[in-house]
Amino acid sequence: MTLQQPPQALPCHFVIFGATGDLAALKLLPALYRLDVGGHLPAGMSIIALGRRPWSEADWLQHLEESIRRRTGEQFNARVYRRFAARFAYVAGDLHDPAIYQTLSDRLCADQSCAHAAFYLSLKPSDFGEVIQRLEQAGLNRPRGLHRIVVEKPFGEDIDSARQLNRLLHDAFDEEQIYRIDHYLGKETVQNLLVFRFANTLIEPLWNRNYIDHVQISVAEQAGVSTRADYYDKAGALRDMLQNHLLQLLTLVAMEPPPALEADALRDEKVKVLRSIRPIEDQVINAHAFRAQYGPGSIDGVPVPGYQDEAGVAPHSIAETFVAAKFYVDNWRWRGVPFYLRTGKRLAQQLSLVAIRFRHPPQQLFRETPLEFIEPNWVLLSLQPSESMHIELHSKQPGLGMDTRIIRLDASYRRGREKTLEAYETLLLDIMEGDRSLFLRFDEVEWAWRVVDPILRHWTRQRDFIHTYPAGSWGPLEADRLFDKLEQSWRNQL
Ligand code: BG6
Repeated sequence: MTLQQPPQALPCHFVIFGATGDLAALKLLPALYRLDVGGHLPAGMSIIALGRRPWSEADWLQHLEESIRRRTGEQFNARVYRRFAARFAYVAGDLHDPAIYQTLSDRLCADQSCAHAAFYLSLKPSDFGEVIQRLEQAGLNRPRGLHRIVVEKPFGEDIDSARQLNRLLHDAFDEEQIYRIDHYLGKETVQNLLVFRFANTLIEPLWNRNYIDHVQISVAEQAGVSTRADYYDKAGALRDMLQNHLLQLLTLVAMEPPPALEADALRDEKVKVLRSIRPIEDQVINAHAFRAQYGPGSIDGVPVPGYQDEAGVAPHSIAETFVAAKFYVDNWRWRGVPFYLRTGKRLAQQLSLVAIRFRHPPQQLFRETPLEFIEPNWVLLSLQPSESMHIELHSKQPGLGMDTRIIRLDASYRRGREKTLEAYETLLLDIMEGDRSLFLRFDEVEWAWRVVDPILRHWTRQRDFIHTYPAGSWGPLEADRLFDKLEQSWRNQL
């Protein structure tokens, strides 16, 4: 989705740094392929894949085809694939070697028909700085046409390093050239939060502290750390997921309606939310944030190793694979309403859910049960496993008496066989079109770091212990200590 009318798609050279890595194989290459299937890639577009592996062109093409076939299965289209594969050139080399930037520059300059390029840094955050500087030294920041640079999250590893990275970027590129990516913003169901809130007069009047008891945002994954331990073991779940994806979801749930549906107006409102999040004092961190790591267990009946036994994890690592945190948004609308955020790997189910729990009615008329034991109303906005919305309400049980029971209004977000672009497809297309609406402004990133920095600092000092949970569970019970009231608990089901 673009928030404004999309500009014309520009033919460009799409350069992927880290093209042999996981993100490229799992997300970027399949997304580019699907865009080609949909006829969205401009005819003259070429893709330059840069990787450390000393592969020949043929090795690369084999890897490319395997990645695409793995993700597309039966949908693999041999005719489109041939066109797609012909767009690629593979450049093997070390990121630290100036020669590859010269090769890149020569290739880009040699093509007189197309002066535009996008550099996608699908790299470890620690490599960003050097690549940015080397692109500048090779003159690739100030091109003949439009050159864009795309930086994957996490943007920095704390507020100071994020600022430093931003300075480096600005030394070499103008803000209009910079795309800070958070792929959750490309998800249609995430964008749908805005429509759900601001296009339904039925909903918006209830969306505040007078009616809402608390908000839960959960992103539970069944997958483990897979082959990404090199990065993940240094990042942990707080940096990998909460600082970006979950806080972005929180801002969309909590923000005020913007004056217009324009990118900067939206970002202004999101920043206001982040600025209103109450800073957590060091002495109360444990009451607001909880971390843990998965031990051995089983997922859908299949035994899986614990985090410590995964390849590439440092001995005695205390990187968190589960994090839960409680935040308060101190503004007129939300004062006193807790926002519980939770994410983890190797959890019982794949579930991404925004769950809004409403307050009890002021008086219970229909049952002998004490008010606090009556199930309250919930609004559930699900991103995974289904893209759907659910509202739980009370209705009268049929028969004599006035007992109530819960009924659900369920709505699937898609009708029938409707398909949409996946998050990375949307965002890659936006990059090619030069549309930055769904990318982050630096102040969003900065304020999000401000929110999590106190937790990070606290945990950095506590290096000898981390709670564990069996893989395939919902995380440790101790995470429940974040709840303000006994009647509050994690919502694990739709
Ligand atoms: C990425 C994280 O940003 O998001 C991964 O680095 C995580 O660790 C992934 O698995 C989850 O994305 P999605 O779209 O599958 O919810």
